[in-house]
Amino acid sequence: MPKVTPDLFEALNDPKVEAVLARLYKDAVKQINSVIWHLLPKAFQLFGKGIHWKAEKNVRFYDDKYIPIVPQQGMFLYMQARALNAKNILEFGTSYGISTLYLAKAAKDNGGKVITTEYLPHKAAAARQNFEEAGLSEYIELWEGDALETLKNINTEIDFVLLDGWPDLVYPVFKLIEPQLKKGAVIAVDDVKEYKPSMQDYLDYVRNPENGYISTTIYPNKGTEFTIKVK
Ligand SMILES: C[S@@+](CC[C@H](N)C(=O)[O-])C[C@H]1O[C@@H](n2cnc3c(N)ncnc32)[C@H](O)[C@@H]1O
Repeated sequence: MPKVTPDLFEALNDPKVEAVLARLYKDAVKQINSVIWHLLPKAFQLFGKGIHWKAEKNVRFYDDKYIPIVPQQGMFLYMQARALNAKNILEFGTSYGISTLYLAKAAKDNGGKVITTEYLPHKAAAARQNFEEAGLSEYIELWEGDALETLKNINTEIDFVLLDGWPDLVYPVFKLIEPQLKKGAVIAVDDVKEYKPSMQDYLDYVRNPENGYISTTIYPNKGTEFTIKVK
């Protein structure tokens, strides 16, 4: 993660949200060394074609880890959602709510809301407290439980999506929500460089123009697959 400084949040123009983000990133940065040690045995994959999530032998390691998007991604997503005037925003993978705060600030400014999904109860509870402290609770619905189940109930049209749960679920979650995507919807996916083999099914689908999308990896400090539904 790049050095986190307050100027990275300034354009949100909301001291409460900025203060919560600064606190959460401070905690997230403290976990970086242990995440690096955890990934070290897979470093050769990381700097090669990417890691297979299915080879992850200890998913429980991540139970208390933030593993958030970086601040540059957060601001990029916030500004994209503002540019689109996105009102119905969906997120897969809340964790402690860092990315959700960016999306919810956009939802507030656009007059919309965010649905976010997390299956670990302690993370969901902590995220709710963070949303409260940031003054954004009323713009967020946190759907607790396995997103592959909870998102079967989605019936609103969606105009902006962040997929940031476990990498091998990106495609199944995407297929679940695809019927709800509006023309012009944006779908952003984190960790596309690190976990490319686990997302290849998704990448093959959205990069095939016959399926009605344009898609490429962009780098707001970290590889992010950026997809637009054009048909
Ligand atoms: C990389 S973290 C999300 C980080 C967050 N987006 C941020 O930037 O702060 C992935 C999260 O997805 C959650 N998750 C993984 N599989 C899930 C599932 N099937 N349903 C709901 N949440 C899931 C994990 O518990 C974890 O908290």
